[in-house]
Amino acid sequence: MKVAIGSDHGGANLKDEIKSLMDELQISYEDVGCDCNDSVDYPDYGFPVAEKVANNEVDRGIVICGTGIGMSIAANKVKGIRCALVHDVFSAKATREHNNSNVLAMGGRIIGPGLAREIAKVWLTTEFEGGRHAKRIEKIADYEG
Ligand code: RB5
Repeated sequence: MKVAIGSDHGGANLKDEIKSLMDELQISYEDVGCDCNDSVDYPDYGFPVAEKVANNEVDRGIVICGTGIGMSIAANKVKGIRCALVHDVFSAKATREHNNSNVLAMGGRIIGPGLAREIAKVWLTTEFEGGRHAKRIEKIADYEG
């Protein structure tokens, strides 16, 4: 599996944590930035991550800003993206099993590194259940056109 990961300044520290988790899990990733602590605009990093997923350049994406909200809104504008904003482990598992989410959003100002690592680990290692859930995702794709 290959993952694209991006953050703004509000998510930069948490992004480093998640990159270190992916190193431990031997999951390869591409970091699209940001590389600094200066104030940047989250869409400049959220769109590239989402586009890499939508274009099948990578399998999944992870986007992190202060709340995760801006990043999730931006990512979900890209056709084919099912971005889930997650701050608990139950939702991390459920959104993979039920929604087949292909981008994970988290807020670096909302949760600490320990919980974020647990969430990311579960999200990265849980498979989509398919079945009745596939039909529901197809309805979203049909609406999207
Ligand atoms: C940046 O200050 C902040 O607005 C951003 O990180 C994010 O929380 C937006 O949703």
